[in-house]
Amino acid sequence: MKFGSVVVLVYLLSIQFASGQAVQQQRPPMAEDVFKNVQVLKGIPVDEFLDTMGFISAALTINCVECHTPDSENSWEKWADDTPLKQTTRKMMRMVTAINKDNFS
Ligand code: HEC
Repeated sequence: MKFGSVVVLVYLLSIQFASGQAVQQQRPPMAEDVFKNVQVLKGIPVDEFLDTMGFISAALTINCVECHTPDSENSWEKWADDTPLKQTTRKMMRMVTAINKDNFS
């Protein structure tokens, strides 16, 4: 291998390494960074947050807009509005978190 190719190889590896580091340092956007009214499900990435919404809807066999206001489907901001069912859901999420913390470390 000629000196020139070694230099190019080292250069390419260093780019590879630097970009690998950049990827590691970049964290995905968290739910509370993107949404306006997240009080309980903080510290999880947006896609996981929305998966959770999908999961609770499926588990309860209800539609998103039974917890959220019906106009959420037309306006992204309306998802942040609270409804009685949404507030009850938060209470239950807090309850389950507390039970898990107290009993299952
Ligand atoms: C059982 C009730 C329930 C169902 C069903 C539900 N959500 Fe939620 N959703 C909540 C609660 C509670 C919060 C607030 C969570 C928190 O404060 O940590 C929330 C928050 C959100 C937010 C964040 C809004 C903001 O700006 O703060 C979005 C977006 C959202 N839900 C979308 C959905 C979608 C899409 C579906 C259907 C797939 C869905 N939700 C189904 C209870 C529900």
